[in-house]
Amino acid sequence: MRYPQEFIEKVSESSSLVEVISQYTQLKPSGGGFMGRCPFPDHQEKTASFSVSDAKQVYHCFGCKKSGNIFRFLQDYNGMNFPEALEYLADKNGIPIPQDNSENKDQNTLNFDKKKLMLKANKLTAEFYQEILKRAPNDSPIKQYVQKRKLKPETIEEFQIGFSPTEWESLSNHLTKNNISLELAEEVKLVKARKENKGYFDLFRDRLMFPIHSASGEVLAFGGRIHDQGEPKYLNSPETYVFSKGKVLYGLAQTAKYIRSEDCAVIVEGYMDLVSLYQSGIKNIAATMGTALTPEHAKLIKRMTTNVVVLFDSDDAGQAAAERSLTILLSQGLFPKGLILTDAKDPDEFIQKFGADELQKKIATAPELFSVILQSWTTDYRAEASQKVKLVDKIKPIFDSIQDPRLKSLYAEELSGRMNVSMDWLRSAFKSTASANNAPNNSQGRTFVMNENAIVVPALPSEIQLQNAPHVELLLLQLALKSRANFEWILNQPEPHTIKQIVSQITHLQVKELMEKIEQVYRQDVNKFDKFFSLLIEKIDRPELLFDKSNFTEFDIEKEQKFLSDTIKKIQQNFLRTQAKKLVNDIKHNKTGADNSVDVEKLKEFSDLQKNRLSLKK
Ligand code: UTP
Ligand code: MN
Repeated sequence: MRYPQEFIEKVSESSSLVEVISQYTQLKPSGGGFMGRCPFPDHQEKTASFSVSDAKQVYHCFGCKKSGNIFRFLQDYNGMNFPEALEYLADKNGIPIPQDNSENKDQNTLNFDKKKLMLKANKLTAEFYQEILKRAPNDSPIKQYVQKRKLKPETIEEFQIGFSPTEWESLSNHLTKNNISLELAEEVKLVKARKENKGYFDLFRDRLMFPIHSASGEVLAFGGRIHDQGEPKYLNSPETYVFSKGKVLYGLAQTAKYIRSEDCAVIVEGYMDLVSLYQSGIKNIAATMGTALTPEHAKLIKRMTTNVVVLFDSDDAGQAAAERSLTILLSQGLFPKGLILTDAKDPDEFIQKFGADELQKKIATAPELFSVILQSWTTDYRAEASQKVKLVDKIKPIFDSIQDPRLKSLYAEELSGRMNVSMDWLRSAFKSTASANNAPNNSQGRTFVMNENAIVVPALPSEIQLQNAPHVELLLLQLALKSRANFEWILNQPEPHTIKQIVSQITHLQVKELMEKIEQVYRQDVNKFDKFFSLLIEKIDRPELLFDKSNFTEFDIEKEQKFLSDTIKKIQQNFLRTQAKKLVNDIKHNKTGADNSVDVEKLKEFSDLQKNRLSLKK
């Protein structure tokens, strides 16, 4: 669904970037904004170089150069996509989320309210389980189990791990006490109705509970592990209105920021693997909860990184999962590497046995997942003709799923070497087995199409290249965007420094366009002018070029205007100098022309130019 522009605008206007970021780092007022230590995990710093401007709704780190608006922050730090960030902020600020205005309107509103209630029930439940685990005596079986699995208190806290009591109705009672109807609790699969209307009983009992969070931290579902012998080992919430296993990766609420900062996602299969790797320092991970990786999962990962390392258990199921995930990852345009662990049944056991460093090393040097699979498919390959044909048939779907042609040709070379066939043979073999309808499905299936620009001006190019802009012109842009006062000052300049004149003398095309746009926005609505920066920043190749430390020191209008006036003069001087050079050239050229006379007009023009240049020097 596409959200209306007014809604996006409303959300962005009522949201506070400072408030959001303050959840993750301590911000102190500084000059025209706030400063604090960079919250991003790949930039650990002792001094504060992370700046947030409340007026502009942008952040910028002078250390690691990350910058953006509130949506970018939620995307990069919390792994949300744009619609999720939008909904999250709307929720936070009590703005009703518009529903589809189709016939299903009533149904949608109903569902929306229900979703909220379900999430509330889940949240209460997670807190309840968490509390029970905390209170359990140290010699209780569950505490003993937690110790045996080497779960640290801070890990338990961070992942909200809990314990579902042994009794049949403790959660039911707790929810009732908190005004959650058990009918609803049944729909979200926390309790189950007894036969013949004899009330409800808790579904999870006597298990170590792992809440499954959304990127924004809502509790969507639970996985519960038995702590002594018994079946099933894990009991999971089934699919509900708020949870779909194929669309959620376990752990992302905690790990998304690390996946982004490491630019790599390590995929494991289980809750315990994820939690155990996390607490031993490998934090750029996500878990599939035992199911095969789905295209939806791959899309989730792709929002954060294109590099994936899949860690599979060493059993047959692990091998099968590896094979399936290869095609899925490739078809989403990701670059998969893979490890099938030997000497340990899963990543958790591996680090308990050999340590996290050892695993980290393996991850860092993991081979292409394609090579891993190829290896396992060719263990008894003797290059017989029938083997060649069979192998090509088996591998063809993998090749069909590869999005990047360069990757495809590299894999083909590897394959031809391994199979001991020529590239020509391989090419024609792939073609002759090709059938028209097995081309990869390229549809991105995006339900949300957002035009983030729509908030202010609908016509910002998707990438603005400022990299090669002259320093003074960047400076002008910086100053113009910095405050209303600055921009008003520019607007009020008399001839020959009117904004029109200045802009016409800017040499860098994109700076010129931006200055025009800023003026347009300013004249439209000054409030929009304030927001403009936060939109712009998303589109700029090197956003750090628009930031200056002085933005976060005391704002001194006089200094500022002196600076502006110097900058403008410099731009005009540069322009006039270039013009003068050109004229001189023209005049010289004409002199050697047919009539041998000096172009009087040009000379006049030249002397005017020089006058102008002199007047600027004053
Ligand atoms: P594993 O059997 O590998 O369990 O299942 P594990 O994660 O290593 O757990 P421990 O170390 O024995 O405690 C991997 C994942 O498959 C799902 C769970 O998500 C689990 O984490 N699974 C497994 C189930 O949903 N149900 C089961 O009965 C077993
Ligand atoms: Mn395990």
